[in-house]
Amino acid sequence: MGRPVCIVPSVLPADFARLGEEVAALQAAGVDRIQFDVMDGSFVPNITFGPDVIAAVRPHATVPFEAQLMVHNPDPMLGRWVEAGCELVIVHAESTTHLHRSLGIVHELGAEVGVALNPATPVSAVEHILDLVDMVLVMTVNPGFGGQDYLPSMGPKITELRALLDRRGLDLDIEVDGGIGPTTIAHAAEAGANWFIAGSALYRDPEGLQHAVDDLRARAEAAVPA
Ligand code: DX5
Repeated sequence: MGRPVCIVPSVLPADFARLGEEVAALQAAGVDRIQFDVMDGSFVPNITFGPDVIAAVRPHATVPFEAQLMVHNPDPMLGRWVEAGCELVIVHAESTTHLHRSLGIVHELGAEVGVALNPATPVSAVEHILDLVDMVLVMTVNPGFGGQDYLPSMGPKITELRALLDRRGLDLDIEVDGGIGPTTIAHAAEAGANWFIAGSALYRDPEGLQHAVDDLRARAEAAVPA
């Protein structure tokens, strides 16, 4: 039996004027978790939303929320994402001088913690903190925007990470994010990923959210190595 597949929407393409209804619709469509792309206009050339927005929509769904922090110097605000209702906080390896400390702070706050790698960042950058995290996010686009093309060149990196985790006996989920859709999800699954972020692929499906979620899940489950 392969690793459990999770389909996780990015709310970036959602209608922000109705975000509460949108997360409720995503849950009704059968997603496993919901990711909030937090951008500060510095770490990435875009700005999205703060913890108050996440707190406002938290009552509209019961699935786990995760915040991907595309922000420089995340430490001062780590508690705000947990208070807002995020069960998982993902820190970018490139965003903080003291990654080991940042990851520890999130655990002290009682939440799960993940580490994210931009496309150019090697697996070796996190090999000494893998025992501290609950999952790893491998970006399959350069972060900052939805609707970009999936980078197949990240396949070997996902495989390298999965092999390292297996060698170390670390039972961690690998999440991928960026350009995930019907024609790319199998490539990432075969490489070793099992959690899949999807934004535009969910919202542009002409047959609706439910069909998009079911289709991506079926394709991933068919491709995840046994
Ligand atoms: C990009 C974000 C992604 C993005 C995914 O920086 O981290 O979550 O919204 O959108 P798609 O699936 O459209 O590439």
